[in-house]
Amino acid sequence: MSAVLNIAHRGASAYCPENTLAAFRRSIELGATAIETDVQMTLDGQLVLIHDEELLRTTGCSKLVAETTMQELRQLDAGSWFDPAFMDERVPALHELLELVKPTSLQLNLELKNGVVPYPGLEEAVIEEIRRFGMADRVIISSFNHYSLMQCKRLAPEIRTGILYMEGLYEPWEYARRIGADALHAYYYAVLPEWVAQAAERGVAYHPFTVNEPEVMRKLLDAGVAGIITDYPDVLAGLLAEKN
Ligand code: G3P
Ligand code: MG
Repeated sequence: MSAVLNIAHRGASAYCPENTLAAFRRSIELGATAIETDVQMTLDGQLVLIHDEELLRTTGCSKLVAETTMQELRQLDAGSWFDPAFMDERVPALHELLELVKPTSLQLNLELKNGVVPYPGLEEAVIEEIRRFGMADRVIISSFNHYSLMQCKRLAPEIRTGILYMEGLYEPWEYARRIGADALHAYYYAVLPEWVAQAAERGVAYHPFTVNEPEVMRKLLDAGVAGIITDYPDVLAGLLAEKN
C-alpha cells in the first residue's frame, strides 16, 4: 500500500498566509508530501491561486478575482493580513507552484474554484498547464463543481480527480465510479471507517479535509484513509512517523 498523503491545505496555512509561495515552501519544510491549493482565473485569463472569489479578505482590494487583470493582481499584498512580515507575498500564478514542486517528489491537489463564479475554459487551461510541466501523474484535480470534474476526466483521463463534498453523499464510491473519479475529498465528518473500507475495495481513495486535531487525524489514519488535508502538515508528519 502506498504511503498516506500528507496534504498541506493552502500550503502550511497555519503558519503562513494561505496560498502564497511562502506557505507552499514552508509546507515542504514541515514534511508535507502534497499541497492543496485553489485555482481561479483573472480577467485576462491567467491561472492564479487564491481561495475566495473576492480579493478583500487576503489583499484588501474590493474587487473579484474575475474582474482583475494579472498586472493589477500582482500589485496586491497577499501577506500582511496574516502578519506584516509577509507583506511581500503576492497572489501566485499556478505556474509558480508547478515550478516549485516539479523538482521535488510532492504531489499536488488543484482545487478548481468554479462553483460560484464560472470561469469558462478553466478546465482546459489547468490541464494544459499540468501537461506542459509533465506532471499529469502527480496531480489530483478536485472541485465542489462535479460537472467540472466530469469535464476534466473527459479532457484528460490520465489525471486523477477528487470529489469535494460536505456531507451525506450516499455510497459515494458508486458516485465516484459514475463520474470516473479516483478519490473522495470529503469533509471529515462525512467519513466512517466502514465507508473507507468499502471505497478502498473499489479502488476509491478517501482524502478528508480539513483536519487539524491530532485525535481526529489518528482516527482517520486508523480507518485507513489514503491521505489527509491539513493546515498543520508538521502535526500529521509526526503522527505518520509514530505509526511507521
Ligand atoms: O480541498 C479541500 C478544501 O480546501 C475544500 O474547501 O473552502 O478550504 O477550499 P476550501
Ligand atoms: Mg481548497
